Amino acid sequence: MVNEKKNWTRRRFALSLGAAAIAAAGCERKKPVSEARRFPSIFRWGCGSSAFQVEGALDVDGRGESIWDVFAKQNGRIKDGSIPSITCDSYHRYKEDVALMSAANLNSYKFSIAWPRVFPSGSGPVNERGIDYYDRLTDVLLQSHITPYATLFHWDLPQRLYELGGWMSRDTGERFADYAAAVTRRLGDRLKNVITLNEPNVHLLLGHVTGSHAPGLHDGNLIGPVTHHLNLAQGRAIQAMRAQRNDLTIGTGLALSPVRAEGGRIHLLNYFAALAFDGIWAGAFLDPLLKGKYPLAAHQMVADVIKPGDMSTIHQGCDFIGVNYYSPAYMRADFSGPSFLGQGKTPAGVTQDASGREIDPSGLREVLNRLTKEYGQPRLIVTENGCSDPMGDHAAIINDEFRSHYLSAHLRAVIQAMDNGSRVEGFFVWSLLDNWEWDSGFTSKFGLVAHNVNTGERTPKKSYAWFANIAETGLLSA
Ligand code: FCB
Repeated sequence: MVNEKKNWTRRRFALSLGAAAIAAAGCERKKPVSEARRFPSIFRWGCGSSAFQVEGALDVDGRGESIWDVFAKQNGRIKDGSIPSITCDSYHRYKEDVALMSAANLNSYKFSIAWPRVFPSGSGPVNERGIDYYDRLTDVLLQSHITPYATLFHWDLPQRLYELGGWMSRDTGERFADYAAAVTRRLGDRLKNVITLNEPNVHLLLGHVTGSHAPGLHDGNLIGPVTHHLNLAQGRAIQAMRAQRNDLTIGTGLALSPVRAEGGRIHLLNYFAALAFDGIWAGAFLDPLLKGKYPLAAHQMVADVIKPGDMSTIHQGCDFIGVNYYSPAYMRADFSGPSFLGQGKTPAGVTQDASGREIDPSGLREVLNRLTKEYGQPRLIVTENGCSDPMGDHAAIINDEFRSHYLSAHLRAVIQAMDNGSRVEGFFVWSLLDNWEWDSGFTSKFGLVAHNVNTGERTPKKSYAWFANIAETGLLSA
């Protein structure tokens, strides 16, 4: 996986290992698991989506192209060859979506704003017709007593900015700050909760190193510059938003997992590989924002791109951390490549979800507890959690008890983390609708609500009613 990074040397790896070992977390306090539990009445219950996965209407109202428009058209990139030009058509059917959330008693919705709708070519004048859509969506949500949580960047970088250097260029961060300012100017009187970046770590790795996501690059040398420029962009955007308003709640959103050693800690080299990878995966995004420095494991990667003043620009702090959690990650030492980091195998015999991902709710508790301990008890929201139907080109499973079991087990982990002192304020299911799941196209379905690609029809699944009940009562039964 990361072993395509060409300029990693044994010395650098040794440094990373040492640094990561020093930083290794201590043990977490454990409390007995409680039986039926009620969440606080102010708890945020929600679900999520992202613009490119649900909106469709790619050439409507002046929207520009994004890197995903271009990527999806390339041969062989998308598993089922599907074209995301309509997806769930939420650009037109958003009122129906909001009504579904409202009927499920949800009080929060995480969606993303498409940067290329607001700045079709990345800079220049704001495309008012594009931003109008989010104005309408925000209003309908508020009328339905649903708090909007808008992500500014969920991977759909304007293609023009990519052509000008994408995240390999510092300037992209300046354009991101302009975009954040434009959104704040137009919507900030009503849109109070903003998530700057969604999973920059996934965008970095899958988009720039393994190439399975847009922009489809395969170059380990990009890890340092892309990481740093995403961090800089976030810092500049937070500055730009705060300069305009002091009543925003601004969070960051990351894919977080415990990173485990293939074969267990007893395999010391694998354990060190896991620690080093964790420093790059999570630490390289959280530490600069919250502590003003990179973890030692990431120092060498970013050394050449940091300019004077950058670290204080990045060190903005934030009001909450959005945790996207699905399963643990595994790593092994891999001496065949220059980074010595290889993707590890998941242990045999673990419980898996219908799409083959490991189910381990304790991983979520571990992540929440660790954030609490390492970053001074920040406010936390589980901004994504959920599971897919079995992968494939078949109809959605409406009687999806496996989904409520999955969610219930993870909610229990949230309770345990709260009992251990984590300030978790909300839980958002990924996702409201079966949608266009990136390189998997329509073959992976995460929705509480099935979506018929041919007719657009939305059909609530069994898990929808189950979640509606929890959102109403706050009660997680034993
Ligand atoms: C997350 C992404 C989201 C969706 C889920 C399944 O990594 O943020 O868009 O793809 O995974």
